[in-house]
Amino acid sequence: MARNAAGSNDSTPEGAGSGVPVHVGIIMDGNGRWATARNLPRVEGHRRGVEALRRCVRAARGLGIRYLTIYSFSSENWSRPLSEVSELMGLLKLFLRHDLAVLHRAGVRIKVIGERSSLAPEIRSLLEEAEALTRDNAGLTLVVAFNYGSRQEIAAAAAKIAAEAAAGRIRPEDVTVETISSHLDTAGIPDPDLIVRTSGEQRLSNFLLWQAAYAEFVFLPIYWPDFDEASLSAAIAEYQQRDRRFGGVTKRAGP
Ligand code: IPE
Ligand code: IPE
Ligand code: MG
Repeated sequence: MARNAAGSNDSTPEGAGSGVPVHVGIIMDGNGRWATARNLPRVEGHRRGVEALRRCVRAARGLGIRYLTIYSFSSENWSRPLSEVSELMGLLKLFLRHDLAVLHRAGVRIKVIGERSSLAPEIRSLLEEAEALTRDNAGLTLVVAFNYGSRQEIAAAAAKIAAEAAAGRIRPEDVTVETISSHLDTAGIPDPDLIVRTSGEQRLSNFLLWQAAYAEFVFLPIYWPDFDEASLSAAIAEYQQRDRRFGGVTKRAGP
């Protein structure tokens, strides 16, 4: 597959929004507001959010998307009330326990990005088990961003590169864009073509800052628990209207 200078893997660089995106990132936002609007506790929104996630994975597989990155818990989400953090940890455990076998049978490969050392050992081993079990699957790669923050990821990459330089394994002048990319948690995963955020918020909230250099953004006005196959198709249809230029010039007819 062709790679252009921006590090994107799109096989049709000019007017490149035309095909199905290879890699879609999703900022699953609005669970709390979905619940509050119904006079329900926020946790009910998170529970319904897991169902939306199942629909999303199924739809992504059906559409032939190769990589789906889901923002499940950010480095900053620890600042929420302890009870909500515990609920979110519980839901991740439940998802991994209940859905792992189904995902594995469907050929889904699971990859986790984010900081693991500060997670509870039980969660860490569930994440590791999911990755180990599905490592050789050739279907959709589901990238789970958990305890993930892009700035932290970039800082950790810089620290690793600095250690290699200090040990004499790399010269500072040889540090390139590729050096940094290959030290991120996402090493080996193509850059996202499309990033979708639900709930109407229009920000990245520390998600894939480096990797999103040439991503297209689609902001959906629905809350995450209402996300379904039609939502994903609508986001992709909008993506397909975009004219991706990667700093070059378009081959499309003018306006
Ligand atoms: C997204 O929904 C889930 C996580 C961040 C874990 P929120 O919980 O952020 O819902 P809102 O944005 O408060 O409505
Ligand atoms: C981003 O949503 C994180 C996840 C979806 C996991 P937040 O709800 O935490 O983001 P902010 O606080 O509105 O920026
Ligand atoms: Mg939110």
